[in-house]
Amino acid sequence: MHSLKWIWTYMRDFKSGICIGFLLVLVVAGLNMLNPYFSGRIVDDVIYGGNMPLLWKLIGFMIAVTMIKTVIRYSFQLLFERISQRVIYTIRKQLYERLNELDFRYYDRTKTGDIMARMTGDMEAVRHFTAWTTYMIVENAMVLFFAIIFMFTIHAPLTVAMLAVTPVIGFFAYRMSSEVRPTFSEIRAQFARLNSVVQENISGNRVVKAFAKEEHEIGKFSAENRAFKEKNIKSARVWEKYLPVLDSLAGVLTVVMILAGGFMVVQGSLTIGELVIFNSLIWALNNPMRMAGWLINDVQRFIASAEKIEDLLNEQPAITNRKQKGESVSADFSVQFQDVTFKYEDEPVLSDITFGVKTGQTVAIVGPTGAGKSTIVNLLCRFYDADSGEVIVEGRDVKDWNVRSLRKHTAMVMQDIFLFSDTIEGNIAYGMPDATLEQVKDAAKKAEAHGFISKLPEGYDTIIGERGVGLSGGQRQRISLARALLKDAPILILDDTTSAVDLETEMRIQKTLKPILREKTCFIIAHRISSVKEADLILVLENGQIMERGRHEDLLKRKGRYYNVFKNQFGDFDGHQFGKEVM
Ligand SMILES: Nc1ncnc2c1ncn2[C@@H]1O[C@H](COP(=O)(O)OP(=O)(O)OP(=O)(O)O)[C@@H](O)[C@H]1O
Ligand SMILES: [Mg+2]
Repeated sequence: MHSLKWIWTYMRDFKSGICIGFLLVLVVAGLNMLNPYFSGRIVDDVIYGGNMPLLWKLIGFMIAVTMIKTVIRYSFQLLFERISQRVIYTIRKQLYERLNELDFRYYDRTKTGDIMARMTGDMEAVRHFTAWTTYMIVENAMVLFFAIIFMFTIHAPLTVAMLAVTPVIGFFAYRMSSEVRPTFSEIRAQFARLNSVVQENISGNRVVKAFAKEEHEIGKFSAENRAFKEKNIKSARVWEKYLPVLDSLAGVLTVVMILAGGFMVVQGSLTIGELVIFNSLIWALNNPMRMAGWLINDVQRFIASAEKIEDLLNEQPAITNRKQKGESVSADFSVQFQDVTFKYEDEPVLSDITFGVKTGQTVAIVGPTGAGKSTIVNLLCRFYDADSGEVIVEGRDVKDWNVRSLRKHTAMVMQDIFLFSDTIEGNIAYGMPDATLEQVKDAAKKAEAHGFISKLPEGYDTIIGERGVGLSGGQRQRISLARALLKDAPILILDDTTSAVDLETEMRIQKTLKPILREKTCFIIAHRISSVKEADLILVLENGQIMERGRHEDLLKRKGRYYNVFKNQFGDFDGHQFGKEVM
């Protein structure tokens, strides 16, 4: 019921169309009674009554009824299909908008396969229900209803005799559908597994080949494929078991009709023409009963899918815009972390993080892998909310910012680089689609990417493969850097941006970035000391805590953790010269 109410909120916009549709369904159900009636008249009035001119009239009526029925049927099928497509269009749009609103936490715990299933299989179940199941239920119910009334008006006792068989047909059809239902859901679940094996294999094909695991992967697929085949056969077995029973019961209907009807004809209480009418209406008793099982299945499938879609539509992002508190407060620091603690799940990832950085300054975060470096910038962009403490940007708690304007205020090169399968120009201009080619080139030059892009046969029009396939790791990083630079936001975040770039190129990038950084607040996360030595503030993070802080020279003097990393990377050094990179 709840799912019906839910789908009605979308369908009610087409109320008049739906009413017309159901009215047409009703007309067709009624018209279905006419041809059996005309057949009866042919037998009684033409064959036995000898009224030959009536024959042509009746045949004409029968042809006309058939044609009118076809046209009306076509019209309402088209009508329901159009309405369902519009309904689905709206739901799909809302679903996609919701997916775009949902935050990192949702994606952390949800599999891509599940989301895809919502967008495809579940959507299809809802479409099928609105486009087909709804009118089929009404049509079958009305055909059954009209047929019973019609039969009663001709001969009540024969109708009762035949109706005695129909519940048995209904019972077996219901039994079949309840037995088939679990096999259908098994097939669907197995299909999802088969799909995810294929999907994972395709996206991980490089790893598969590198480890020469093709046979293992084929084996994995074969097992799922075999299970899929077996589940389909199991489902077919249920069919095979019930279909003969249902066919025999349809036969029983005919037998009852001929035996009882024949007897009544002999007795004189029924004409042969009326018997022919009963015969022509057998399908009107049989079909709805057989269909009922399938329709129940369709309704259940619709309910299951509608609930899943509704759940996703009701999913609330944890990161929301709260009422803004007056005007922004001017502050000394453009970004400030105040006693910030954070955990993704149970384990604390950041504790007591406090630091501030002004416009024009660069803060560098270094530390072992897993220390929480990327997490700090995740909190800054409000991909997650701090558990306690405050993250203040331009004098205002990030929670008081409109999330979108906060993110427009920042440009980020993420550690896990994602490029779209689009042209290089399209990728660089992602954050600023109106940028001219000159601006794109300018950003690429600053990111030291122009050189290699120009050497490509199609230059900036080169289409990049999915996730940036076709480019080297360092090239991808530089395109991603150009994308962030073109956005020209006041806060620039570079998370491990030059890790795959050679030292010489990195130094050139640093040189071109220098004047840009002076105008912005910049965060640099890196493992190489050479990437961070110029920063105004270096934070050494370990286990989510700031262990050391200061400028490069101060930290070297402390001879602590930073100094040790430096020594490991540069060996013996004289003064603060960087001569070589340790391989
Ligand atoms: N989405 C997440 N869900 C749960 N735990 C996470 C998630 N992201 C990171 N973590 C955990 O939080 C900790 C800090 O991760 P973070 O990505 O901030 O490290 P990092 O310092 O950037 O490391 P690296 O130098 O390897 O990039 C790690 O222990 C990691 O396992
Ligand atoms: Mg990281």
